[in-house]
Amino acid sequence: MAFSLRPIAEDDFPKLYALDQACFAPGIAWSKAELRYFLRYPGNFGMIAEDEAGQIAGFAIAGKQLRRGTVLGRLITIDVDPGMRRRGAGHMLLEEIEMRFRGMGAAAARLEVSVDNTTAQAFYARHGFVRTGRIPGYYLGRVDALVMEKQL
Ligand SMILES: CC(C)(COP(=O)(O)OP(=O)(O)OC[C@H]1O[C@@H](n2cnc3c(N)ncnc32)[C@H](O)[C@@H]1OP(=O)(O)O)[C@@H](O)C(=O)NCCC(=O)NCCS
Repeated sequence: MAFSLRPIAEDDFPKLYALDQACFAPGIAWSKAELRYFLRYPGNFGMIAEDEAGQIAGFAIAGKQLRRGTVLGRLITIDVDPGMRRRGAGHMLLEEIEMRFRGMGAAAARLEVSVDNTTAQAFYARHGFVRTGRIPGYYLGRVDALVMEKQL
């Protein structure tokens, strides 16, 4: 299936919120305030992958952080509609994010993913991310996160 990318617009918010709720378990999925926070956080950027009919297949939000004076690209989330997975939308979003990270001079990309989320771990591993750490209780104070990174 052919997807195209576009920036997130203000009126996409209800659909992105519903999509995030469909992607993650209650408590892990973002509240509206959290989604707004990540969309509006200075320096963050987001994009949507849509199909030929203009249906939103997925979205991604990313930003940057500094680690000991080095710029890192921070992947905050990629959410693909459960009915539209394994068709390349996630791949397209990640490729675009990595391109933007390189454009802002990031040495590496970094993300956190739940230890339970083997699908996303496989997706990121397929794209060259390797596990570099583990954060105890990152989700809800009881589920650990794996830190995954990729040199750019
Ligand atoms: C992870 C996610 C974004 C992948 O999106 P997607 O559009 O289905 O991914 P793609 O179709 O681009 O997959 C690219 C490759 O990743 C790997 N991959 C994707 N899903 C996989 C799965 N369920 N099992 C194993 N490998 C998988 C495969 O190598 C795949 O290539 P292939 O289909 O040719 O074998 C999607 O499953 C998702 O939204 N999950 C819920 C939200 C989430 O956990 N996001 C990550 C937060 S950190």
